[in-house]
Amino acid sequence: MSKPSYYITTPIYYPSDNLHIGHTYTTVAADSLKRFKKLLGHDAYFVTGSDEHGQKIQEKAKEVGKTPKEYVDDIVADIKVLWKMLEIDYDVFIRTTDKHHEKAVQDIFTKLYEKGEIYKSKYEGHYCTPCESFWAESQLVDGNCPDCGRPTHWAEEEAYFFKLSEYGDRLLKLYEENPDFIQPESRKNEMISFIKEGLEDLCVSRTSFDWGIKVPFDPKHVVYVWIDALSCYITALGYGSDKEENYKKFWPANVHLVGKEIVRFHTVIWPALLMALDLELPKQVFGHGWILFDDDKMSKSKGNIIYPEPIIDLYGIDSFKYFLLREFSFGQDGSFTREKFLQRLNSDLANDLGNLVSRTISMVKKYNDGIIAEASTKEEVDESLINLAVSVADKVEAYMDKLNFSQALEEIWKLIRRTNKYVDETMPWVLDKEKKTERLNTVLYNLSESLRIISILIKPYMEKTSLEIRKQLGLENEAVWEDAKSWGLLPIGIEVKKGNIIFPRLDIKKELVRLDEANQKLIDERAKKKGEVEEVAENISIDDFAKCQFRVAEVIECEDHPKADKLLVLKLKIGEETRQVVSGIKKWYKAEDLVGKKVIAIVNLEPVKLRGVESQGMVLAAEDDEGNLSLLSTLEDVKSGAIVS
Ligand code: ME8
Ligand code: MG
Repeated sequence: MSKPSYYITTPIYYPSDNLHIGHTYTTVAADSLKRFKKLLGHDAYFVTGSDEHGQKIQEKAKEVGKTPKEYVDDIVADIKVLWKMLEIDYDVFIRTTDKHHEKAVQDIFTKLYEKGEIYKSKYEGHYCTPCESFWAESQLVDGNCPDCGRPTHWAEEEAYFFKLSEYGDRLLKLYEENPDFIQPESRKNEMISFIKEGLEDLCVSRTSFDWGIKVPFDPKHVVYVWIDALSCYITALGYGSDKEENYKKFWPANVHLVGKEIVRFHTVIWPALLMALDLELPKQVFGHGWILFDDDKMSKSKGNIIYPEPIIDLYGIDSFKYFLLREFSFGQDGSFTREKFLQRLNSDLANDLGNLVSRTISMVKKYNDGIIAEASTKEEVDESLINLAVSVADKVEAYMDKLNFSQALEEIWKLIRRTNKYVDETMPWVLDKEKKTERLNTVLYNLSESLRIISILIKPYMEKTSLEIRKQLGLENEAVWEDAKSWGLLPIGIEVKKGNIIFPRLDIKKELVRLDEANQKLIDERAKKKGEVEEVAENISIDDFAKCQFRVAEVIECEDHPKADKLLVLKLKIGEETRQVVSGIKKWYKAEDLVGKKVIAIVNLEPVKLRGVESQGMVLAAEDDEGNLSLLSTLEDVKSGAIVS
């Protein structure tokens, strides 16, 4: 029998800026879900990508003097590095600038136009540029965009419209017949009220900018970015190309994971478009909550960013993934703080899991030379541990069905804590002292066996840690999900291996400083890379400036430096005085051309020798970022020796 397929997507993110923890959150969730489904025997497929068109990106690129494509290429490269760092196991990274996507979107648009689902008319409305959304008067909140709260402006354009207004009833019926289509429940209710207020036709083309996919039969229009973007969920599978196998295999999607702010696009526009195209509908759209930062949504456009890279660099990917999935309840908002992150690292990872691994392995080493021996006794405390251990996998499955990552992990941690308690209850060190070998062997077996089960349970969320625990246990085979449901599978006679401490305890105060510095360093680097800020030197006082003595100087002699091919040696007349200056300007000036020219020199610099020739000062020159260089002079002729200030 072929494996059942399971298709998961994340939003395709705007590469208007580098991604932050918020985007990482959705992607990490999708990645764990894929790994979980794979472990359960599904043929799981996972698509993520980048949403590269639109006015906002066009404007951003212009601000920093790049073409939109150059701009997004740089950011998409960083995004891919980030997913690689996090070992995100996606199958396709779809870019809306991919040629096959562009063509498929054009075909979709044409098809809808030919079917009469799209028609041409004129658009007027309140437009929010950052959100790329038109709003009706009634939708504005205090005159501002209802999504982001920023000002909108009145815009008017000839445009194409999709007959969304005709889909209200079909959408309501869809929600009713498929109670899981929109999750969590609260978002469903919002969408129902939204539809009941009456849907308007949707403007699906723009003429106010051109960074987009051209409407093939009317190329001064570009396709509305949301039509372009949503289509990626099928174009990533090859829909509309000559390779549609994956589309046939994986569509419809089992779940689109999205943030709550874009549920409307995914549960109203997207299914309506698919209905218009006579295509199957996704089974579920899950709108998760926001990660807040100081009670505000962490957002590229608000700039209150914590980047994931420094966290991963400092603490590894498993700590970070665990924290994201465990700390936040998937449907709800939650605040991110570095303190919470570090506290969880200490409590759940260092104290609970890390400690359990290290004490179990050390005890097997110490009391039994590292060899797993048979369990031959059974007490009540053993039963309690065993019963819990073999029941966790089913509970995890049930929570994962609801995409309740945090509860799934909590169930696993209940077992970890229970196992730690088992050590305190059975006190192996006393058993050793009292030479109760059979009982000691049993206790050590049970501890190791529980760890084996834990290594399977955590695998979808913490692959590296799972592997490390199995390595330390001396297990060589791959984790199999069903094996988490049986007790006694750990082979007798294998040898455990002492490894590194998997999660060391951290000094939170010290780590907060390290994290902050690393994040700020990355923010600065990225701003510089984009050309957003010039490197600005610290301010100096007028007294500092007054210390520098600049003079007008006439070049009376000039020759090539005898030993260095980039340097010229200039003789300067400065008032009554002459002095020699060595300057790295040979690439731009011939020695003889400078004689007789008046330049500006600083005359109270400490003299230095440059390749054996003394230089008593410096001549000033300006150089631009294309490498053009020009010596400074005065606009009108003044006598040499004149003071420059
Ligand atoms: O909306 N908390 O892209 P986008 C939780 N291109 N999740 C967050 C988050 C936060 N603070 N910030 C971002 C777009 N996200 C469109 C999508 S899909 C066809 C087109 C996550 O770059 C969350 O998944 O603004 C959210 O929906 C998405 O990033 C928005 O990314
Ligand atoms: Mg957004």
